[in-house]
Amino acid sequence: MTMMMMMNRREEVDSRLLRLCRALPKVELHAHLNGCVRPSTLLELAEECSRRGLLSLSDFQAAVIVKEDRSMEECFQLFGLIHLLTTDHCILTRITKEVIEDFAAENVVYLELRTTPKRNEAVGMTKRSYVEAVLAGIKAASTELSLDSYFDHKEDNIECPSQRYQRKANPQIHVRLLLSIDRRETLEAAMETVHLAWEMRDLGVVGVDLSGNPCIGDWETFLPALKWARQHGLPITLHCGEVPNPREVEAMLAFQPERVGHACFLESPDLSTLLANRIPVEICLTSNLLTNSVQRVRDHHFGALYNANHPVVLCTDDPGVFSISLSYEYALVSTHFGLSSLELLHLSRNAIEFTFAEDRLKQMLQSFFDGAKYAAECQCFQFSGVP
Ligand code: IMP
Ligand code: ZN
Repeated sequence: MTMMMMMNRREEVDSRLLRLCRALPKVELHAHLNGCVRPSTLLELAEECSRRGLLSLSDFQAAVIVKEDRSMEECFQLFGLIHLLTTDHCILTRITKEVIEDFAAENVVYLELRTTPKRNEAVGMTKRSYVEAVLAGIKAASTELSLDSYFDHKEDNIECPSQRYQRKANPQIHVRLLLSIDRRETLEAAMETVHLAWEMRDLGVVGVDLSGNPCIGDWETFLPALKWARQHGLPITLHCGEVPNPREVEAMLAFQPERVGHACFLESPDLSTLLANRIPVEICLTSNLLTNSVQRVRDHHFGALYNANHPVVLCTDDPGVFSISLSYEYALVSTHFGLSSLELLHLSRNAIEFTFAEDRLKQMLQSFFDGAKYAAECQCFQFSGVP
């Protein structure tokens, strides 16, 4: 997010289009755990803390929790408040489970959630126990079909792709985790995070992210940790160009991360580097709009990148904070850039290639989408959830 004012500029979308986008299978690759918490859960947690005298909940804070349109200052206050409420292991497990359920309800079939492991000595929380609590939430929400059972069916040549799609009209969600380095952290803390990511690679942690207030810190502080992650085979995504900072953007792109988030402020040579290296961009349209990085949806760099056939993935960033959903982001793109339902499906399917998931899961998801595509083409696409 940028430090500028966030205004009430959330765009309306057609309700039928929104239903169609909800029915579309989708892939989410840029969502911060604490930015995804249900407002109702936040309110409940805040009230509970207030009852126990742990937090004095002023009228202003309550207003911040329940209102939909927040200034940027209020957004940062909200992150601070959310972090005060989500310090406990049980709460972390609960919010993770709820966040996954909410994405699954939006027909997200693969979710790459990211979070910054935090210490909290008061409750005996270490970075490791923080991640373990999040992984417990993933496990609690997990409804994954085992890959083996999927491949058993795939061998069944009696079933055409559209039938397979319809049989799986309520697909399970697959969840993987990225560990974030916050730009406010020290190199030592960042090293601990990347070591954890590597140690927990068999438990669902698939990569590393650099995020946090883009106006704070210098990304080069974290280079040794990012290089260590790379040497150990962990893919990296960087929040890049959220605010104008040409020197940093140039250096980040020269590092050639596996993906970048935002990429709003890229000068011409940087854009050439991005395009030449085909670095996938996690597009967070409403986030950029509400925080004034981009003035109008139609001016968003999604259009230019999409038309240049550059790898892009639609994402939400902080759906709880911005009161949006991934379906809404797809509807927005369809409205302003004229993508058909089939083009939206292709857009979503293409995202699989840019996930940090294991090859076998990618392959399974691609087969699943091909079933959906086939079904759409022969006009028997079943919009699950559409009345
Ligand atoms: P958490 O890592 O689960 O605590 O998710 C919230 C954190 O994500 C915030 O404290 C920021 O560090 C980071 N974050 C959320 N949205 C943005 C963004 O738009 N830009 C940069 N960092 C962000
Ligand atoms: Zn982000």
